[in-house]
Amino acid sequence: MTDATEPPILFALPEITDGDVDAVTRVLRSGWLTTGNECTALEAELSEYLGGTEVVAVSSCTAALDIALAHLDLPRGSRVGVPAWTFVSTALAAVHNGLQPVLLDVEPDTLNLSASALAAAADQLDAVIPVHFGGVAVAREVHDIAADAGLAVVEDAAHALGTSDHRGRIGGPGTSPTCLSFYASKNLTSAEGGALVTSDPALAAFARSYRLHGMDADAWARYRPGATAGYDVARPGIKANLPDVLATLARSQLARFDTSQARRRELLTAYRGALEPDGIRFVPEVADPGSADHLAMIVLPEGVDRSDVVAAMSAAGIGTSVHFRPLHTFSWFEANVASGPGGLPVCDEFAPRVLSLPLHMNLTNDDVERVVRELRRALGR
Ligand SMILES: Cc1ncc(COP(=O)(O)O)c(C=O)c1O
Repeated sequence: MTDATEPPILFALPEITDGDVDAVTRVLRSGWLTTGNECTALEAELSEYLGGTEVVAVSSCTAALDIALAHLDLPRGSRVGVPAWTFVSTALAAVHNGLQPVLLDVEPDTLNLSASALAAAADQLDAVIPVHFGGVAVAREVHDIAADAGLAVVEDAAHALGTSDHRGRIGGPGTSPTCLSFYASKNLTSAEGGALVTSDPALAAFARSYRLHGMDADAWARYRPGATAGYDVARPGIKANLPDVLATLARSQLARFDTSQARRRELLTAYRGALEPDGIRFVPEVADPGSADHLAMIVLPEGVDRSDVVAAMSAAGIGTSVHFRPLHTFSWFEANVASGPGGLPVCDEFAPRVLSLPLHMNLTNDDVERVVRELRRALGR
């Protein structure tokens, strides 16, 4: 039986240390809240972590995708391949730039963009947004196919700060424009926030102005002591700068990022060690050493009704989540967005069966054991 006195285990619970609180308090008291020195320092520190690429901090990963696509300057209606297995903003960033997403199927092992689905659609596409789902890098063939077909590539790395692939760190030198998320449930958070990372100085300069309405001087440049107040607007940008109050939280978290990632790996290894011998399959099936381990995601055995499992876990005080409901199952996408040749059979097969378990820095080893125990019970094992 579940002990009713046990505290709930939330699906996501950001780790906020005294150091994080002190950092934010210091900025709150500094007299400068919006984008300024803290944001610049975050950009420099992240750049160092990623190996020297330029980092432009923005208000979300969605904004980073929006900016990277705007910089491509593709004709209206150009077609952008997007895995159907992603969060809606990957595709909506294309829509908001006047582009037409084309939904592509995924690999059954990783639920990452399928190389064969991309190859089949490539001659109809102008660009592609691979998503490093759950922190697992997309397969090398995806990059090869995109390069052979001359497609522009923007990488959705909302789950992939800390991920590596054959090119090195995602967002490092040699990767395409890369979009990071610092949303509250991510492995590094600023509450809301993100970054566009690039080796292309022209894209970085574009992004610095585009994130601030297209202005050529930010508030710090205009209002710091002794500054001149003038600016020009060279293009119609958006409002997507990252304020210092949030940037300082991301900096504080980045300072312990390697330690947090090591703990994340420990927790995920504990889940796998306990559940795999029961025949429970994880995504990816075999742990990927380059993964940022964003999710502890299982595939429920065939015939199990996920809503029953979610309800049983919830009754035991344990939060779960689903990543993702594929895009073609949302009414707007169903009515307005086509899928590539071959359709989306893998998405359809896995959509009702995946379940994400709690995975965050506030989990104890006992919590993991309790989740495992309750999951086994929910599955009748
Ligand atoms: C794969 C993926 N892409 C993009 C986003 C958007 O991130 P943000 O909330 O920072 O805009 C998310 C958000 O969770 C995501 O999971």
